[in-house]
Amino acid sequence: MRGLTGFMFKRVRGTQDILPQDSSSWQEIEEVTRRIFSLYGYQEIRTPILERASLFNHSLGETTEIIQKQMFEIVHGKDHLVLRPEGTAAVVRAYLENNLDKKTQTSKLFYFGPMFRAERPQKGRLRQFHHLGIEAIGSLSPYLDVEVISMGDRLLKELGITGYHIYINSLGCQEDKARLAKSLRVELKSRLPKLCPDCQNRYKHNIFRILDCKNSGCQKEVGSLELKQGHLCSACGQHFRAVIEGLDSIGISYQLLPYLVRGLDYYTRTVFEFRHARLGAQDALGAGGRYDNLIGLLGGKELPAIGFAFGIERILLVRGRKAAPKNQNLVYVITLGKLAEKKGAELVHALRANNIPADTDYAGHTLKGKMRQANELGVRFCIIVGENELAKGVVSLKDMVTGEQREIKQEDLIKELKSLIPNP
Ligand code: HAM
Repeated sequence: MRGLTGFMFKRVRGTQDILPQDSSSWQEIEEVTRRIFSLYGYQEIRTPILERASLFNHSLGETTEIIQKQMFEIVHGKDHLVLRPEGTAAVVRAYLENNLDKKTQTSKLFYFGPMFRAERPQKGRLRQFHHLGIEAIGSLSPYLDVEVISMGDRLLKELGITGYHIYINSLGCQEDKARLAKSLRVELKSRLPKLCPDCQNRYKHNIFRILDCKNSGCQKEVGSLELKQGHLCSACGQHFRAVIEGLDSIGISYQLLPYLVRGLDYYTRTVFEFRHARLGAQDALGAGGRYDNLIGLLGGKELPAIGFAFGIERILLVRGRKAAPKNQNLVYVITLGKLAEKKGAELVHALRANNIPADTDYAGHTLKGKMRQANELGVRFCIIVGENELAKGVVSLKDMVTGEQREIKQEDLIKELKSLIPNP
């Protein structure tokens, strides 16, 4: 759009327009996702994009990158708000605020929606991106972990995605995490001078982040640590073994990755990532894990929970863009002359009233231009109304595929089209 000064408005860096030719791919992903999620007993929840900053400060951890530098903040009077950077804390807030914790069974919730993070944009990394996610709140069963991971796997398969890998790890409970942090501190102390400046800082404030630093020097040092699941207490070890056995028993392939820690503080026990090499540096298609202390932390009862979120833009990147479907069922009404134009408007109205998708040209194109438009739209049938047709009380029906054109009495048109168009 060009303003009065001739300045061209551009979208904000790191955001995307989803154009009509792309929206069918989005719709398909949403349709498949809804089908799979409801197959597993999940119900949709929609929470606001605006939340209080304190919700995320409290949940994600003060030293995490999202809280340190990625929140889009809005200070409005006394309100300190943010555009939500993720869905889990928002869903837990809604769950508690709306007393869903008073139900006895596990709450299984799913959501779609935009998330916002002030990151440096690059391939697969946006400032506004979209999550499809689930949160299952109220159960500590390891078979719920198996269900959640297998549902992510099923979803990607149903979306026709191959070549991804599932990585899993267990962080253990809060005590185990503290133990892991302590042993990492000991192990990494002598390697500190070889770590990047960011990791030297992380050593003091958020030691887990060193494990997934992308710097090759840091990765080399981390690779020499020989991490095992030694930090796990007996209950967490047992839980993790049950998850692994459960995945094996239903044939889900995965790789154990002791360096997998995830970037958010709320995780406990099982954590996992679905990665795809085609994504390059930002290789996580989706990720999640348990957060058994978050509900308590946000003021609720101590209830265990687990969930995941996939980035829809990243799913689209690996899936490739599908050709937009043609408007096969749309009937295009072409009129020639003023009188016919009025009749055309009535016809379009009558077709739609009979649930036949219909459109016409409102831009006053020539016959050639109108035909070109019908071709661009990819319609199968055109109705042509000129003075000739008006005088005879007919319309011409043109099949754009075969090129055949024939006259039909106006009163027979709807019946004829219903027989030609499948499920109008
Ligand atoms: P997350 O790993 O921060 O987890 O995000 C999940 C997914 O969102 C990533 O695997 C990636 O596909 C996508 N994503 C993240 N940041 C961006 C970005 N800047 N641009 C494009 N895509 C991005 C969470 O947000 C957790 N809430 C997941 C979860 C749900 N854990 C438990 N329940």
